[in-house]
Amino acid sequence: MHPLSSPKTIDINHNPWFNSSYLIRIKGSTYTQLFSLNPNTTTMLSKKQAKVFFLGGVILFMAIFMGMSIHSLTVGIPAQTNAEDINEEVILGKKLWDRNNCMGCHTIMGEGAYYAPELTRVYSRKGPDYIRTVLTAPNGWGPRGRMMVKYDFTDEEVQGLISFFEWMNRADLNGFPPEPSLGK
Ligand code: HEC
Repeated sequence: MHPLSSPKTIDINHNPWFNSSYLIRIKGSTYTQLFSLNPNTTTMLSKKQAKVFFLGGVILFMAIFMGMSIHSLTVGIPAQTNAEDINEEVILGKKLWDRNNCMGCHTIMGEGAYYAPELTRVYSRKGPDYIRTVLTAPNGWGPRGRMMVKYDFTDEEVQGLISFFEWMNRADLNGFPPEPSLGK
């Protein structure tokens, strides 16, 4: 017997409230697919609707994500880092920074090791003369006990590193590095 034809049945298997074909009337119209008390038989969306919803969502948010990535790479990052100021000296400094493993002891933009000071803003903290002194210290820099490697940089190379730090110093890094929040 069809459950709808015997609504007074209490047997759970034949109770109309547990049958997916039970119709619900909302404000006069009839919805069959939207809602059911039986979770096993009825879906919120039809398969096709779910597919369209899923694919539409993926494509929409992928487009938004790609748009934002392209904007970051072509507009945001070049503007924040003053990309037009990257000249030969800055490039030389960056290469020396990489080749001499400065990151083995220092961090820049928070990347690297924690043995020696963070150098993202070293240019404004210490100035070019101090940096020159550090890089040309005859026995390796280390006034407070921790030692830096002794390098034999040429004047041109020292200038390259100073220019690199000067360029780095002006990059807008969204507030990095943060000011220490505890007493100075
Ligand atoms: C073996 C670890 C080590 C390596 C590698 C190293 N440094 Fe250092 N550096 C130090 C230490 C330690 C200090 C801080 C010494 C002090 O002031 O007590 C320092 C200080 C500095 C300072 C001054 C920072 C400040 O705030 O006082 C600069 C600039 C610097 N290093 C640049 C470089 C560059 C550029 C390189 C790579 C070419 C480099 N360092 C590689 C250990 C290192």
